[in-house]
Amino acid sequence: MPSFKHILFDGRDGVSTLTINRPDKLNALNNATLKEIREAIQGVLDDRNIKALIITGSGEKAFVAGADIGELSELNELNGRKFSENGQDIFELIENFHKPVIAAINGFALGGGFELALACHIRIASKNARFGLPEVTLGILPGFGGTQRLTHLIGKGRSLEMMLTGEMIDAETGYNYGIINHLVDTPDLLLPAAQDILKKILRNAPLALGMVIESVNAANRFEINGYQTESNCFSNALKTNDFNEGIRAFLEKRPPEFTGD
Ligand code: COA
Repeated sequence: MPSFKHILFDGRDGVSTLTINRPDKLNALNNATLKEIREAIQGVLDDRNIKALIITGSGEKAFVAGADIGELSELNELNGRKFSENGQDIFELIENFHKPVIAAINGFALGGGFELALACHIRIASKNARFGLPEVTLGILPGFGGTQRLTHLIGKGRSLEMMLTGEMIDAETGYNYGIINHLVDTPDLLLPAAQDILKKILRNAPLALGMVIESVNAANRFEINGYQTESNCFSNALKTNDFNEGIRAFLEKRPPEFTGD
């Protein structure tokens, strides 16, 4: 793994934590940070030792306060399209990661930061979290997949209200909207909460987890037949050693020992 300047990437017990680490800029995503996120994720795509990923922000104030506004000011019609496609591409890498990805949202999740959280599979937040897509206040719109993912997650009415007003919602409202799965009191409780969820997830068959993610993601893609994806995955799951182990363990009344094969 290369050394990084804007993110921290470490791991313990099979769980990697990617921390966006520009706290003096509220962890805003500049191009260099986005590049490092891409490199970090690509570096662990096929690493069997890594079973899950947590994404969070440095400091107690922000998860990520959006794309870096300094760099946004240099965009034009041509490089802006590339900027948007590059962000979409990186967040798609996260969404399609075959292992669970949890966003631990410890403060402001705005613009590209909110879009980053939306690309993760599960979101948990502390009560100081704030969510918003303020792009229209800058004369632009969300460009890293937010118009699509938020709409899929909470429906058109609430999604449009958030994007058209550009206003933030608080953590409780985010919870009531279904944006976040769990709410904890303070940021220091986020990583333990994420570990608790992962403990429940990671006792299951790794390849089956990846297939669940693939099939559920297919529900949001009009160009893919989700039912077909589900059937393909189902049939592939039956070829795995873990399927044999799961059935055998049930019959032998013991916990399964999955190997991810
Ligand atoms: N890009 C670049 N820098 C950012 C940033 C962003 N998206 N968000 C915050 N920062 C920087 C500020 O410029 C400031 O830097 P400085 O100390 O060098 O001046 C630092 O982070 C702290 O932010 P500040 O605005 O002083 O904190 P605050 O508590 O008063 O306000 C926010 C917090 C999140 C409400 C405010 O920073 C904000 O509105 N940020 C922009 C959010 C946004 O529009 N994001 C979407 C971009 S598409």
